[in-house]
Amino acid sequence: MSDVTLSFIHRYQPPARADATTLLLLHGTGGDENDLLPLGKNLMPDAGMLSPRGRVLEQGMPRFFRRLAEGVFDVEDLKQRTAELADFIGEAARHYGFDARRVIAVGFSNGANIAASLLLSRRSVLAAAVLFRAMVPFVPEAPPSAGGASVLLSNGASDPLIPAAETERLAGLLRSAGADVTVEVQPAGHHLTPRDVTQARLWLASLKPAQGIRA
Ligand code: MLT
Repeated sequence: MSDVTLSFIHRYQPPARADATTLLLLHGTGGDENDLLPLGKNLMPDAGMLSPRGRVLEQGMPRFFRRLAEGVFDVEDLKQRTAELADFIGEAARHYGFDARRVIAVGFSNGANIAASLLLSRRSVLAAAVLFRAMVPFVPEAPPSAGGASVLLSNGASDPLIPAAETERLAGLLRSAGADVTVEVQPAGHHLTPRDVTQARLWLASLKPAQGIRA
């Protein structure tokens, strides 16, 4: 069942322990709030799961922001949708009683792109992020602050949508925003592979409690 009482249609699953991390699950184009719940459980079984559905429709397919063409984003819309998603995290934290400072985004493709946008635009909204198949969402005018977030960027070596230079450019932008970025280049295309998932699980397990991450 999807919950429609907050500003995004979403699913929420409480954590196994009261003080656990919350994973913010952000689906790809054409996905919905159900898609990444199994992935989230696989990555961090004890964490709470907050999984919104993107509010933009492209030919009936949910997305988190508008695009003008493949890989060409409507930056004004992106910025507005990014702010809405940041507000939703606070709204959901108050509603469900989780700690908004312990939110880790896990995004795939379009969902990874809006997670990268969150990191580049708002201070301290995410404690960490796993970005699967992400590209540069926009280039900030002023140096942004990602608030020291830890970021795993897991992209595919043969992804037709994301050349290697784009992965490096995104990693560089996030680092210049103060993020601690790990890049993994997978022997894969745009689709997620078991290797992505295994590496992400290990990376998440390696995050320090001192960073506010515990699940
Ligand atoms: C996007 O539009 O965010 C990217 O092109 C990835 C996707 O195809 O959704």
